[in-house]
Amino acid sequence: ADPDPLQDFCIADLEAQPSINGFPCKPASNVTSDDFFFDGLSKEGSTGNIFGSNVTAANVLAFPGLNTLGLSMNRVDFAPGAVNPPHIHPRSTELVLVVQGKLLVGFLTAGFVYHSKVVTAGEIFVIPRGLVHFQKNVGKGKALSFTAFDSQLPGVVILPLTLFGSTPPIPNDVLAKGFQVDEDVVKAIKSKFGN
Ligand code: GLV
Ligand code: MN
Repeated sequence: ADPDPLQDFCIADLEAQPSINGFPCKPASNVTSDDFFFDGLSKEGSTGNIFGSNVTAANVLAFPGLNTLGLSMNRVDFAPGAVNPPHIHPRSTELVLVVQGKLLVGFLTAGFVYHSKVVTAGEIFVIPRGLVHFQKNVGKGKALSFTAFDSQLPGVVILPLTLFGSTPPIPNDVLAKGFQVDEDVVKAIKSKFGN
């Protein structure tokens, strides 16, 4: 979904001020093969957190060689029972490839339809751009997936953290009315996300 490039490549100079769209290029004379290589997805991420999952991102900020090329990838590790909580990528469609284990992958359409599938090793599932989605490890052991994006920086809005863990917090009465629950419930959820 990113704009088409106007040159073969443009390794991001992350030190430079981002321009109106993306990063300026580092000088061509300094470009080496290493600029097109990234080993950060080879390591298992730590799943010792409340969700039991970990996203390792290979976006333009981690892998500057992706600048202007319109794609990126994540590695997502899941402990047994883990969830990658409901979230949105404002700038990208997502293709989920399960490499190990068994994931329930689901997304919601704007018309409140829930689409989901249990996806196992070698299988792929596509999540259209901008829609709320999640994954849950429904297998017995660990699970591992790689996700591909048609953006160098898909962006991510994690719904529980955004709604209940913002700084400053959203007023409790807004969330209570919005979710049709008592403010005690809102406070209990907020307390899990640092508010
Ligand atoms: C999974 O949903 C991911 O964003 O990598
Ligand atoms: Mn996602």
